[in-house]
Amino acid sequence: MTGEPRDTNAADRFQTGAALGTPEAARLENDLAPYFFTLRDVPPSALDFALLFGNDHPLEIEVGSGRGLFLVNAGTTCPATNFLGIEYDFKEARRAARRLQKRELPNVRILGADVTLVLPRYVPDACARALHIYFPDPWWKRRHKRRRVFNAEFLNQAARVLAPGGLLHAWTDVEEYFGVMMSLVAANPAFASLPPPPEREAAHDMDYHTSFERKKRKLGLTIYRARWVRRS
Ligand SMILES: C[S@@+](CC[C@H](N)C(=O)[O-])C[C@H]1O[C@@H](n2cnc3c(N)ncnc32)[C@H](O)[C@@H]1O
Repeated sequence: MTGEPRDTNAADRFQTGAALGTPEAARLENDLAPYFFTLRDVPPSALDFALLFGNDHPLEIEVGSGRGLFLVNAGTTCPATNFLGIEYDFKEARRAARRLQKRELPNVRILGADVTLVLPRYVPDACARALHIYFPDPWWKRRHKRRRVFNAEFLNQAARVLAPGGLLHAWTDVEEYFGVMMSLVAANPAFASLPPPPEREAAHDMDYHTSFERKKRKLGLTIYRARWVRRS
């Protein structure tokens, strides 16, 4: 990993099936359409969400969606909202897309790509009603911390893509990273703080906000939650 934006043409473990050049690989590439797509499947310009979802319902974006528990639950609970997950680990993204496919959720899509590339180049201004980032990788080692997704540039992009009144949600179990997030947002005049959502008892094993929330709560760890509103 270089910390550079991840281009889906890169010949690494994130490479898609079709790039391998065999019919089986191409089938693998398409078997989860339309739930899973990559930057190869769209023009190299701003995403057309009305075209992607076939309607102009409000849009929410999740960054680093992992196995997609948030997307499945939110997409089921809010059928009149469109959800786009962005996840650069294709194995996880495809696993999440399989869950969407099984449930035939028409309002959720997963883009297999690096969010640091997608937000600035592919997401139009003020198009989203909410941006969600749950348990972003903490990159513990000092020399790796620059790989953290939640940084000042991410916040600038969040401020740009959120519509006025839009919400930014961030959760983590890493107290130090949470402190960094709080300081970064406090220094950004585009956002105002809102009270955090309270912790809720899970009624069953899928009744968690994300897979990482389930994992961390079962370990008895504290979960730090925050939300902010995009000022007008
Ligand atoms: C610790 S996991 C959390 C997954 C999920 N949000 C949850 O709470 O269960 C962080 C996820 O962010 C993804 N990720 C990290 N950096 C990313 C980036 N630059 N672009 C897209 N996804 C990224 C990782 O591949 C991983 O799936």
